[in-house]
Amino acid sequence: MIKERLCVLISGRGSNLLSIIKSCRGKDFPAKVKLIVSNNPNAFGLRYAKQYKIPFKVITKNFENTLLKQLQKNQIEILCLAGFMKVLSKNFIDLFFNMILNIHPSLLPKYKGLNTHKRVLNNKEKESGCTVHRVDGKIDSGEIILQSKVKIAKNETEASLENKILKKEWTLYPRAIKKYCKEIKRYYWKIGGTA
Ligand code: GAR
Repeated sequence: MIKERLCVLISGRGSNLLSIIKSCRGKDFPAKVKLIVSNNPNAFGLRYAKQYKIPFKVITKNFENTLLKQLQKNQIEILCLAGFMKVLSKNFIDLFFNMILNIHPSLLPKYKGLNTHKRVLNNKEKESGCTVHRVDGKIDSGEIILQSKVKIAKNETEASLENKILKKEWTLYPRAIKKYCKEIKRYYWKIGGTA
């Protein structure tokens, strides 16, 4: 099976990165993590790169140009943002043919941006969740690939909601990657390429 070559971008904890790495180790999973990039040298998630012996780069200066070179060098086909807190320019997104996915801890298009859980609780929402979407150049915006919902309990706190949603994220992101890879393959066939 030909596997799509992924690069995962992180800024911190990296728990979504870990779930993606583990899923990619499955024989039938259609993608493989070939590169991990962080804009933060102290990102906890970088230890998963070392643990699983996956090439990684910390880029603190000239971020997009350096990243593009790394993506070309490693023949990356899909970029996954996983807790990556730097905004990518529209120019960069266009250059990478829009093959960029992101996970956000809300039911988009609701609650884009930061402090999601706090705003959800203040508004007394009954449910929240997480979304994997294609990145279109605006913050937390773009075609939705998959969503997962959670119910909000009466005594819910920001921390308990974050934990509840994070657990859903760990299964949602790999499922969304799988779905996206299938869609890309269908597209390749349509335009007469090979997949
Ligand atoms: C996740 O909850 C992710 O949805 C969120 O940051 C967290 C990263 O956790 N992303 C955003 O808010 C993007 N707008 P992780 O580093 O443990 O994967």
